[in-house]
Amino acid sequence: MSRPVVLQGVGRLGSAILEGWLKTGAVDPADLIILTPSEKPAAEAARALGARINPPLEALADARVFVIGVKPAKWFEASRSILPHLASDAVIVSVMAGVRRETISQGFDGRSIVRIMPTTGVAQAQGVATIWAADAAARAVGEALFAPIAETVHLDDEAAMHAATAVSGCGPAYYFAFTRALAQAGVAEGLTPEAAVRLARATLRSAAAGVEGAEALDALIDRVASPGGVTQAGLLALNENGALDRAVESAVQAAVVKSTELSG
Ligand SMILES: NC(=O)c1ccc[n+]([C@@H]2O[C@H](COP(=O)([O-])OP(=O)(O)OC[C@H]3O[C@@H](n4cnc5c(N)ncnc54)[C@H](OP(=O)(O)O)[C@@H]3O)[C@@H](O)[C@H]2O)c1
Repeated sequence: MSRPVVLQGVGRLGSAILEGWLKTGAVDPADLIILTPSEKPAAEAARALGARINPPLEALADARVFVIGVKPAKWFEASRSILPHLASDAVIVSVMAGVRRETISQGFDGRSIVRIMPTTGVAQAQGVATIWAADAAARAVGEALFAPIAETVHLDDEAAMHAATAVSGCGPAYYFAFTRALAQAGVAEGLTPEAAVRLARATLRSAAAGVEGAEALDALIDRVASPGGVTQAGLLALNENGALDRAVESAVQAAVVKSTELSG
């Protein structure tokens, strides 16, 4: 058994991280300590494989990593009783949107911090995770925990976490909203709602498979949109006078503003 990894909070994201770790074996369940106020299916699945749930706090003394998976408004209060039990060399992993390293570090008596912004696709080991840390050791901890369950993207500048959050943290919801709009448009043109939704969802999956390789986005578009063809007509209407570019830019800008606001 190695030094434990503590996960505090098994909500939407905490569950997804846990499922990803169990699926890939990125963290040995025997090395997992889970802190959760209420029973959660993902935590119970981990318990069945040897994880400890809400053990006496003395068990945290050996922890090498402490993952904060609670809401930004909760972390400070949630950490107060934990802090006296944590080793001084424990690395703090924060997946919280917006909360700056300096603030977290103050709350954790100067311990090393790595900030990570993952998507819930980590549950299927298909997430994307932006990583920023001030020191290389903390960055390496983040990479070791998230590379098995996500494509990891490292940032040099903490301030860019807002933009990364706005692009990839929020991004799945943008794609789902676009998929819903595509289905609605299909219904408006005569498809049944069931056929339209199935087509739109399957097209999202199919497009995602197409983007797996390294081919440039423009080349991927060109593969579908032959000059003078049907797709090209659709694309021209979609981005008439830059409407699509502007809509996406506004969405990302609004999310950056909100993320900055939340970071206080
Ligand atoms: N959801 C996402 O896609 C996403 C993406 C990127 C980042 N994030 C970040 O991830 C964090 C969690 O977000 P979420 O969407 O997963 O929220 P959530 O579903 O509300 O989960 C938060 C969890 O924290 C638990 N909790 C509250 N107090 C606790 C304590 N003292 N000790 C241990 N656990 C405690 C809650 O337990 P109970 O259920 O028992 O109340 C809840 O399950 C946030 O900071 C958010 O910014 C989320």
